Amino acid sequence: MSKIISGKEIAQDLRNKLKKEISELKNKTGKVPGLAVVQVGNVAASSVYVKAKTKSAIEVGIEVIDHHLPEETTEAELLKIVGNLNNQNNVNGILVQLPLPKHINEQLVLDSIHPDKDADGFHPLNVGKLSIASHNDENLLIPCTPYGCLIMLKGLGVNLSGKNAIVIGRSNIVGKPMAQLLLKESCTVTIAHSRTKNIEEICKNADIVVAAVGRPKMVKGDWIKKGAIIIDVGINRITIEVEGEIKNKLVGDVDFDEASKNSSAITPVPGGVGPMTIACLLRNTTIAFKNKNR
Ligand code: GUN
Repeated sequence: MSKIISGKEIAQDLRNKLKKEISELKNKTGKVPGLAVVQVGNVAASSVYVKAKTKSAIEVGIEVIDHHLPEETTEAELLKIVGNLNNQNNVNGILVQLPLPKHINEQLVLDSIHPDKDADGFHPLNVGKLSIASHNDENLLIPCTPYGCLIMLKGLGVNLSGKNAIVIGRSNIVGKPMAQLLLKESCTVTIAHSRTKNIEEICKNADIVVAAVGRPKMVKGDWIKKGAIIIDVGINRITIEVEGEIKNKLVGDVDFDEASKNSSAITPVPGGVGPMTIACLLRNTTIAFKNKNR
């Protein structure tokens, strides 16, 4: 039987620790970390994430500075708002929820966030630091989803060194930083993507599988080596028919029922990676606060 890795529980532990730490920081400095949450437009999934991030931040004692802007906001207006947040003393972290509307250059906006306030760890300077650092120094702002995946992997207590890892997906948000983190753990890392040949064969050789492609149940049960660890980053909404009724269901990028027959540990969807992403955002905001107030 495969162990089910409960991101929900691990994230709760992390949030409890952060809540305690933030209360101690408040006693010491008279201040609490501040997180600016910027959403442009009303993409439904973004609204769900922003709401969950805001709720969790407030619960651990972070002050949330909310900027929900209309879809028509221009790039110049958004850059101005980010510029103001960069200069605002009560703001330690800035999160600009992606995707942005098509008329706004996303990278330009991410580049405009002050690297010290980069709650997502997406600024080129922080991406560079992650790539250069030989270990995960406690001051680094690391992209939340892959860092959450790493915490879950490390929580299993297995030695990651020398393990074959496949990261499926090469996004800046997940795939690339995940590969960097696994490399730092001395894994042998393959990044597979839509043009990769023999992805199934590479996967069959992997001790660790991180799937982040956004394709429902793409990774099949027989792609999984016996005893492999699976981290499923995908959150895909599909419709299924149950007793003649059409229902919505969330599924990952991995065929959970089949893959869990071979794996030694696997994250569920939902309740796996999702809660960890949010907890790591709160962690980054607290790190940014501590870096400023040390
Ligand atoms: N959109 C999807 N995932 C993320 C994330 O981790 N951060 C931000 N800012 N936007 C996202």
